[in-house]
Amino acid sequence: MSEVVCTCSGCVDVDVDVVALDQYKAVDFPRRLRSRAASGVQLMTTRNLKSGAVMRRTQTISTAKGTAAVWAIESERPGNTGICHDPYARRFTSTVFYLLIRLFAGYGERRTHGALTFIVCRSRYFDDYLKACLASGMSQLVILGAGLDSRTYRDPLQGVVKIFEVDHPATQASKIKRVKKVLGTIPTNVVYVPIDFDEETLDKLLAYGFDRSLKTLFIWEGVTYYLNWKAVDATLAWLGTNAAPSSTIIFDYEYAFASTRADRRHYLYSVLSCLDGERRAFCIKSGQIEDLLAGRGVTQVLDVSADQLKRLYCMGPNQDRTVAQKYAIVHAEIGRHQVQVST
Ligand SMILES: C[S@@+](CC[C@H](N)C(=O)[O-])C[C@H]1O[C@@H](n2cnc3c(N)ncnc32)[C@H](O)[C@@H]1O
Repeated sequence: MSEVVCTCSGCVDVDVDVVALDQYKAVDFPRRLRSRAASGVQLMTTRNLKSGAVMRRTQTISTAKGTAAVWAIESERPGNTGICHDPYARRFTSTVFYLLIRLFAGYGERRTHGALTFIVCRSRYFDDYLKACLASGMSQLVILGAGLDSRTYRDPLQGVVKIFEVDHPATQASKIKRVKKVLGTIPTNVVYVPIDFDEETLDKLLAYGFDRSLKTLFIWEGVTYYLNWKAVDATLAWLGTNAAPSSTIIFDYEYAFASTRADRRHYLYSVLSCLDGERRAFCIKSGQIEDLLAGRGVTQVLDVSADQLKRLYCMGPNQDRTVAQKYAIVHAEIGRHQVQVST
């Protein structure tokens, strides 16, 4: 692991641990999966990483399918004891992912010290935050890196607000097919905006009808891990300039100390990296998120730790569950500053 200083505009003082690229060499992958490379399964190799794109055009939606499978399994807990509930997750994800995650959930949870419980607590927290924003007059929703997020199709949002689902074109095309198959139609209040965050700016949102005058919530769930610093910074800067005053953003992120050499050498980590084909890039040291957000038009920053999630959602039958400590959620107000008129 090499220690570097990020040089993107505005974060020159933030130390970032960057995972050495060669940890992803195909040679680290388990032998059985390597043989699948020969049969057409795409593996992340040093060569295609060097192409510079963090996410390839042809990349599948495997991480999104994985998360949706976790939601599906949580939603099936007996007696509605699941921490989050997603009525569409089982139908949106693929059966292969669903069965794989069901089979390895216990093992994966132990190895990752509660990553799956973090995912379900995160979704529940995002759902609760969305409800609070709806109650406080939000009238536009933008879901960045939407993956198989089904909030657009659930009752509370039907016809209430205009929704933009922004995602990588490859993931989005697959999602649209899935939505049509499951629902038979596309709801009229949703607009799909295909964007590669590493290559394009959110200006495309304006071309697709985003209204700069409306109080908006931006949901960015499970995405920053896969973006480079420049892309995260550019997204925050765009929101600071274009969102209406009192708009809000909620996203989650990984602490920079998180992935150890031992983690990365582990079989499960290799399998997941191999399956997802997405390279983890953005992470930040604990306690630095407020500094990162300061100066980007962001105020009212609230950082939510694993311990807080555990206190909020792991009670009764869930009280013995562990929430992975290496991730956190942050939400804040974002948007154009109101002009102060001095009298
Ligand atoms: C783990 S999934 C999260 C999806 C969903 N928000 C969730 O909570 O399950 C990661 C998402 O980030 C998107 N993503 C990753 N890199 C991207 C990029 N460079 N541009 C646009 N989207 C990207 C993927 O397409 C995928 O939908």
